[in-house]
Amino acid sequence: MSTENFETIAIRTQSERSQFLEHSTPLYLTSSFVFEDAEDMRASFSEEKQRNIYSRFTNPNTSEFVEKICKMEGAEAGYAFATGMSAVFSTFAALLNAGDHIVSARSIFGSTHGLFTKFLPKWNIETSYFDVNNLDSIEALIQPQTKILYAESPTNPAVDILDLDRLGQIAKKHNILLVIDNCFATPYLQNPIKFGADLVIHSATKLIDGQGRVLGGVTVGKADLIREIYLFSRNTGPALSPFNAWVLSKSLETLAVRLEKHCENALKVAEFLEKHPNINLVKYPFLKSHPQYDIAKKQMKLGGNVVAFEVKGGLEAGREFLNRIVLCSLSANLGDTRTIVTHPASTTHSKLTEADRLEVGITDGLVRISVGLENVTDVIADLNQALEY
Ligand SMILES: Cc1ncc(COP(=O)(O)O)c(C=O)c1O
Repeated sequence: MSTENFETIAIRTQSERSQFLEHSTPLYLTSSFVFEDAEDMRASFSEEKQRNIYSRFTNPNTSEFVEKICKMEGAEAGYAFATGMSAVFSTFAALLNAGDHIVSARSIFGSTHGLFTKFLPKWNIETSYFDVNNLDSIEALIQPQTKILYAESPTNPAVDILDLDRLGQIAKKHNILLVIDNCFATPYLQNPIKFGADLVIHSATKLIDGQGRVLGGVTVGKADLIREIYLFSRNTGPALSPFNAWVLSKSLETLAVRLEKHCENALKVAEFLEKHPNINLVKYPFLKSHPQYDIAKKQMKLGGNVVAFEVKGGLEAGREFLNRIVLCSLSANLGDTRTIVTHPASTTHSKLTEADRLEVGITDGLVRISVGLENVTDVIADLNQALEY
């Protein structure tokens, strides 16, 4: 039965049942698959037959996971990776040639920034950056050799929102690819392909797993682009393991209910912080005070689970606040059932220079909270006592 309904797709998209007629998808922990005979083997390798050959190429567990994400994002095809960063790297490495150019938002995940500044220049691929609050500056950065326009929305860690429709129009006008890292929103809250993205990347390690267990990544989008990414990955080996794919596919079954609760809790935390006298600034996409509130409302179903805020008193006050936290975890991950509090300036974005950090709104006192699924009154009570210094 075909359906457009997210929850049904998440639960009922399933790889073909084996002869045991299992109800839940089994785990296909196998590196390779067998052939009937020499002709079967030849036809499979020449791709006359679509079938599993070797788990670096495809595996029933990874295929099920990819198929679900494709349906959720409205994408034609996809490929699953061992981590979000291998999805980011392989996407760029597969599609770009020496001398190509990227135009990227300045506020991007720290390791992606590292890839653009330290590694891609080794292959003569340069990146120009635009301010997320000034999309008018993008067109002037586009050169004849520009191939990709890249952004995250909401951004990590400052939860800025970029107008995806606007980015889609710019990419189309200049005939360049729009690639969006949709990690903070997940396919439940936002579908960048609807706004003109050619490819969508996820770190599945975050809300897609949602329970802080496994690493994973995925790129989905236009079939011809995914074919290039697949061929690159088939040869270079960043494939997602079948075990992690099995975990992630199961996790997707509960993504919608988890996200509803994550977002409800995050909004309550944001509203609490906004009223607290020891807080300078709170950013959450669905707070009316967020500078891009209207855009967030237009392109996102709910506001996500990440709240960024600044404690009054700068670095020392920020440290004091973190040291007083009792229930929430101090950890570098996000999108877990457990609420996680981090200090981006000294952790995820510590490799950026101070000037680069300030340019993307990461002040010394900025705290990022990934709101979990505990009873939110306990989370708020913990934050409240930690703010009483
Ligand atoms: C927006 C964003 N993209 C990519 C990544 C990288 O994902 P992974 O840690 O799975 O490699 C992260 C990780 O925090 C992220 O937040």
